[in-house]
Amino acid sequence: MQPIEVKENIYWVGAIDWNVRDFHGYQTPKGTTYNSFLVLDEKVTLFDCVKKPFKSNLLANIRKLIDPAKIDYIVVNHVEMDHSGALPEIMEFIGPEKVICSPMGKKVLIDHFHREDWPFEVVESGKTLSLGKKTVQFLETRMLHWPDSMFSYLVEDEMLISSDAFGQHWATSERFDDEVDLEELLSQSAKYYANILLLYSPLVQKLLAGVRKSGLRINMIAPDHGLIWRSHPGRILEAYDTWSQQKTKKKALLIYDTMWQSTEAMANAIADGLNQEGVDFKMLNLKHNHRSDVMTEVLDSKAIILGSSTLNNGILPGMADILCYMKGLKPTGKIGAAFGSYGWSGESVKILNEAMEGMKIQVVDEGIRVKFAPTQQDLDRCIQLGRKIGKLVKENGH
Ligand code: FEO
Repeated sequence: MQPIEVKENIYWVGAIDWNVRDFHGYQTPKGTTYNSFLVLDEKVTLFDCVKKPFKSNLLANIRKLIDPAKIDYIVVNHVEMDHSGALPEIMEFIGPEKVICSPMGKKVLIDHFHREDWPFEVVESGKTLSLGKKTVQFLETRMLHWPDSMFSYLVEDEMLISSDAFGQHWATSERFDDEVDLEELLSQSAKYYANILLLYSPLVQKLLAGVRKSGLRINMIAPDHGLIWRSHPGRILEAYDTWSQQKTKKKALLIYDTMWQSTEAMANAIADGLNQEGVDFKMLNLKHNHRSDVMTEVLDSKAIILGSSTLNNGILPGMADILCYMKGLKPTGKIGAAFGSYGWSGESVKILNEAMEGMKIQVVDEGIRVKFAPTQQDLDRCIQLGRKIGKLVKENGH
């Protein structure tokens, strides 16, 4: 990729990773990008770095604009290795006057790279720094999504370099929101929010309120992953407001794993009940749906209906996986119920109910257990459970 001028004298110089398929458990079938931005001013400044294997791509892009040794400042908005993995080698190559980061950024950089000798300049939230014609204002965003995270706001350009926030894991030859399908972009952004930021939703709400209160004018949002919001920054701010309030639709999810299709037959009967109530629902068999896609559906669903056969006094491994993942991401405002077949011990429904209670999902039914294979009477009970959940979804969803 060539460098691309995103604003006057501000260039995208990052890297496209077409092949990455996993971010700590988040499946990324469309790859991602590591966005870096170079500002050509009296103080030449590089905002964010790239993952270690992409060091040469970054340097090649910079070289097309300027000798990298002329870079004065490197701003590290976030230390995670997809943005600073290449930093030690870049530091050797460039030898900048300053490495600018948040107070926690300095600590976390030293914890990673053990280089206390780097020329750190720690910036508190709200501090401004002149680069010449352009001014940067730093905004600490602790725990969005690491303790070191911050944004950099280019004042004259009204451009927010937002680190991980507002991003997407989507490798494209295009760089701007108006060059791709907007609905697909919002869908990729929702997946990213559900899998990375959902648990920090209360902090996102505070951040958005702070931005509104400060009257900060934003006409471009440049995240460190994916497309730059040039034409529709308001759409992603609005979407983050909705997602961080965890507003749900009148929608139910049937998430299940099945051993010999008895639990699946129950799932189909519950789906019939939901259908009879006319609510939107999705069936997610965990043998065919990755946890990160399941979480994307959880984001705007009111009801979570979990099904698992009993295996060795427990639940099936696919279900254990999604429960572990979902628990960490802390979805709120959901109702739930459980179902599953068993042969002799039958613990799965109890385990699923306890897991939902542990996640503060309101369990609205004791659940349905079926020995070996469901009878028509059992399936009728499942239909009734689907209808019960469907009615509650209609009453409580948005
Ligand atoms: Fe894209 Fe938290 O790193």
